[in-house]
Amino acid sequence: MKVIIRKNSAESSLWTAHYIAAKINEKAARTDEPFVIGLCTGSTPIETYAELIRMVKAGEVSFKNVISFNMDEYVGLPESHPESYHSFMHKYLFDHIDEPAGNIHILNGNAPDPVKECEDYEKAIVAAGGFDLFLGGIGEDGHIAFNEPFSSLESRTRVVTLTQDTREVNSRFFDNDPEKVPAQAMSVGVATVLSAKEVVIMAYGSKKARAIAAAIEGPMSHYCTVSALQAHPAGTIVCDEAAVGELKVNSYRYFKAVEAAEAK
Ligand code: PGA
Repeated sequence: MKVIIRKNSAESSLWTAHYIAAKINEKAARTDEPFVIGLCTGSTPIETYAELIRMVKAGEVSFKNVISFNMDEYVGLPESHPESYHSFMHKYLFDHIDEPAGNIHILNGNAPDPVKECEDYEKAIVAAGGFDLFLGGIGEDGHIAFNEPFSSLESRTRVVTLTQDTREVNSRFFDNDPEKVPAQAMSVGVATVLSAKEVVIMAYGSKKARAIAAAIEGPMSHYCTVSALQAHPAGTIVCDEAAVGELKVNSYRYFKAVEAAEAK
């Protein structure tokens, strides 16, 4: 696992956007096959998406041959609701880039047959060729996608029940009322995320510091599902200084040393 540490979320987001764009361009230079990416919502990716939008407009990267799958969606919230992840993704990314509409995949949280919806999503990921890169944030409880504590590390896309903690954290988008946050979501599983050739996780702010320490220094555990990244051959966590505030000093120094050595 690599840990990239930048001063603040703005610098971390620039690093992440430029890294993703470089990966898309690298694949486009060698094959006509699409670049398949997993995408996330939340406050964390907004600055990364803003930089990707700027890069698309400046001709520095194109999403014309990118296929995306979002990691999750609330169950029962209308797609048109301003806080649905459909709305979020269009507002912060898709309405401003050149990704063809047919390449965009987001779970239908109102599907009449939720089990089939989740199974079909896994099949569509495989049919697209599997993920080149999965981009994610983390929850304060260490969740990756909506894989709350005690989710199987072998889980695949399914309907999940949100913890009270997550509903409270997300209530900032629902009139500060946790009861208004849908109780369930559809989410890719931990194993779905880990099926990607590469996983990039972003974590900013001191609220994420305990989860980051658990994910990096703790045991791999279903209690902190992002810790499963420890078993991935190409996992990167991009943090600002605040998010690494609970890491041991020696861990922090080591990750800085690795980055410095690789930059030479
Ligand atoms: P956030 O959410 O980016 O809004 O902090 C991340 C998450 O809950 O996974």
